[in-house]
Amino acid sequence: GEAVTLYDAVGGEPTFRKLVDEFYAGIATDPLLRPMYPEDLGPAADRMRLFLMQYWGGPNTYSAQRGHPRLRMRHAPFRIGGAERDAWLRHMRRAVDSLDLPAATATELWNYLERAAYFMVNAMEDP
Ligand code: HEM
Repeated sequence: GEAVTLYDAVGGEPTFRKLVDEFYAGIATDPLLRPMYPEDLGPAADRMRLFLMQYWGGPNTYSAQRGHPRLRMRHAPFRIGGAERDAWLRHMRRAVDSLDLPAATATELWNYLERAAYFMVNAMEDP
């Protein structure tokens, strides 16, 4: 039969909702990152959740609503250096840990998120 997607293996949408809710709870209080995000974090959380669901084999609602992800381009308006990347990853690490996934699954998810966060850096550190 068909390979089970990570999306299904982790429990589908409710799990991604929890991941993104935990992540945005961290963003909401972050002095470095909070100012980069819109006043209302709700729609931003929806975009992130739908993207991650799609990436891991769930419904393609993200692209139906937003088109091709082109995430580096969509992050171009924001200055993302090492400090922003590390802060983002700190909130995401806490969010992944909150899911209590089997270790191999958590590692697969985390490795992707870490690689993607390094890829999103678009600003040099101050000399
Ligand atoms: C959007 C910051 C990394 C996925 C955004 C937004 C900000 C932001 C400020 C706009 C919020 C909104 O209105 O949607 C950052 C920072 C990062 C980072 C500081 C540090 C490295 C990532 C990574 C991913 C990601 C690694 C994917 C794994 C997204 C998505 C959106 C978004 C899907 C919405 C794009 C759209 O459809 O407009 N990010 N981001 N971000 N980010 Fe990030």
